[in-house]
Amino acid sequence: MAIPELRIKDLHVSVEDKNIVKGFDLDVKGGEIHALMGPNGTGKSTVASAIMGHPKYQVTSGSVTLDGKNLLDMTVDERARAGLFLAMQYPSEVSGVTNADFLRTAINGKRGEGNEIPLMKFIKLMDKKMDLLEMDHHFAERYVNEGFSGGEKKRNEILQLLMLQPKFAILDEIDSGLDIDALKWVANGVNAMRSENFGCLIITHYQRLLNYIKPDKVHIMMNGRIVTTGGPELAVRLEKEGYDGLRKELGIKDDETVEA
Ligand SMILES: Nc1ncnc2c1ncn2[C@@H]1O[C@H](COP(=O)(O)OP(=O)(O)OP(=O)(O)O)[C@@H](O)[C@H]1O
Ligand SMILES: [Mg+2]
Repeated sequence: MAIPELRIKDLHVSVEDKNIVKGFDLDVKGGEIHALMGPNGTGKSTVASAIMGHPKYQVTSGSVTLDGKNLLDMTVDERARAGLFLAMQYPSEVSGVTNADFLRTAINGKRGEGNEIPLMKFIKLMDKKMDLLEMDHHFAERYVNEGFSGGEKKRNEILQLLMLQPKFAILDEIDSGLDIDALKWVANGVNAMRSENFGCLIITHYQRLLNYIKPDKVHIMMNGRIVTTGGPELAVRLEKEGYDGLRKELGIKDDETVEA
């Protein structure tokens, strides 16, 4: 099987007629984990939503392809079936649908009619993945994210990741709200996905997560585009210096004052 590849080229995205993403380029291959960092409001989640096909986020130019196929032409459902997964910064609650039913429907949607996962196999798989995340099994029968604590929601996103086994995942602030132990379990979950057949973009504010999930590359986004790329040491430096040092070095003004 060919190694999967997600390519984002010169992406421009606007929200309610305001340009937010202004020339975003990124290439992630199977086997790689990239981190995306950047100040609040710079457009990280907007990139994620646009790639996943959220109708509010308008791609005004640029391209996004998965294994050479144009994702921007696809519905959200088709993007998921093509192998894309997004763990949202603010996961939605789905009232009246249990976690188990939600996941079984999602898995079967991907497998297609006539190829549904046998119930016992599904239950075993879900038990195994919940154990990896140290999740209480009663979460299988709770409505998706309803009444979950912030950290429980994040862990549930990683449960979905492990169950759906996508080719590519974008994990938006998956570490926010996690306690020290939960951070390790979530990292275990992501690390368990590592293979040639899986690529990942982790959006985070904190270097701490990257101690547990070693990124191949760290990208810094400001003013709607990636302004510099480095290795894990770039995240360490940011943690120490904040964004100001980098802004000065690169000659970048504040997000608010720069227009594309
Ligand atoms: N649905 C929306 N309606 C109006 N404005 C939006 C919407 N989504 C994003 N924006 C605006 O776009 C800009 C970028 O937001 P985005 O959520 O992408 O930032 P971010 O880099 O993810 O920030 P954070 O680190 O705080 O999560 C912000 O100014 C935000 O207010
Ligand atoms: Mg965000």
